[in-house]
Amino acid sequence: MGDRPIDTLNRPDVVLEQTLRPGLFADFTGQAKVKERLEIAVTAACQRSEALDHVLLSGPPGLGKTTIANILARAMGTNLKATSGPTIEKASDLAGLLTNLAAGDILFIDEIHRLQKTVEEYLYSAMEDFRIDIIIDQGPNARSVQLTIPRFTLVGATTRSGLLSAPLLTRFGIRERLDYYKAEQLQTIVTRSAGLLKVAIDDAGSMEIARRSRGTPRIANNLLRRVRDYAQVRGDGRIDAALADRALAMLEIDQHGLDEMDKRILETVVVKFGGGPVGVNSMAVSVGEEADTIEEVYEPYLIMEGYLNRTSQGRVATELAYRRLGIQYLGGNGGRLL
Ligand SMILES: Nc1ncnc2c1ncn2[C@@H]1O[C@H](COP(=O)(O)OP(=O)(O)OP(=O)(O)O)[C@@H](O)[C@H]1O
Ligand SMILES: [Mg+2]
Repeated sequence: MGDRPIDTLNRPDVVLEQTLRPGLFADFTGQAKVKERLEIAVTAACQRSEALDHVLLSGPPGLGKTTIANILARAMGTNLKATSGPTIEKASDLAGLLTNLAAGDILFIDEIHRLQKTVEEYLYSAMEDFRIDIIIDQGPNARSVQLTIPRFTLVGATTRSGLLSAPLLTRFGIRERLDYYKAEQLQTIVTRSAGLLKVAIDDAGSMEIARRSRGTPRIANNLLRRVRDYAQVRGDGRIDAALADRALAMLEIDQHGLDEMDKRILETVVVKFGGGPVGVNSMAVSVGEEADTIEEVYEPYLIMEGYLNRTSQGRVATELAYRRLGIQYLGGNGGRLL
């Protein structure tokens, strides 16, 4: 990550995130379909000695987008140059990045939904025709110069694919969305990370951490670190279910892995809207979050875990949601309190 400020490079959590990050598809747990499709694309491109098609990775934070970008570069045997949408301020910044790439290199643009409109337009011809026309100088001296760019691969990552324009979206030959992980998959990740950190953990201990990580590998790894500290100071260094539970309770981590916004959303649907159905916009206004973020980041987890259902009339709370909130469910009518 060349453009990260120096101080974050030395932060232990950043170093740790890099140590725990799988470098190969073989070490990357879950997302089986995404993985299979990407592995086939990589193998085929390698066999033809071609650059990989442009890849767009979308999905909530911490599910492995940056990790996959790095795995792709390694699997293709190419360099990865990483940048992010907001740091490319002008077309000339983009031109600088692109002309410095070698054939086959990966340009990774994180938070690609935050690219400036003017920069985005230059990217179109770069992605499609591998050239860009830039205007140099101003006024009467202004002239357009055409730059040819090596056949590169753009890997874009976004938590908000809904904000991408159609012209940009359609220029990605490969588009993959990452989903939240099941507890069993997170358990595998926790066990692998514990091995790398050389901390003893049993199956029930890793499951306890996995269950409470909101379907997110980054959270699972962070909780593992916190539980490891607790085991070292308050225990004998080993992690089992009872110790993990004590540590996570001390940290006030929800029993079921829900975060504050999840609870606010469920409470809104159940209490304020009588269990639903409620439209995403009314829900968004009530909880003070953007409708797109609710749809792309929060709701998928709540739906996967069976707290919410999406119906044609809107979102409906399930019995499980009532139970989590400690509110009696009177059943029927799509979960409405009658
Ligand atoms: N499938 C996986 N298997 C093992 N570890 C994973 C997996 N996915 C993610 N991780 C771990 O979770 C951490 C966060 O993943 P990553 O940085 O790739 O997320 P991201 O999708 O890029 O998040 P953001 O949107 O915040 O940038 C990684 O450092 C890695 O250790
Ligand atoms: Mg990332």
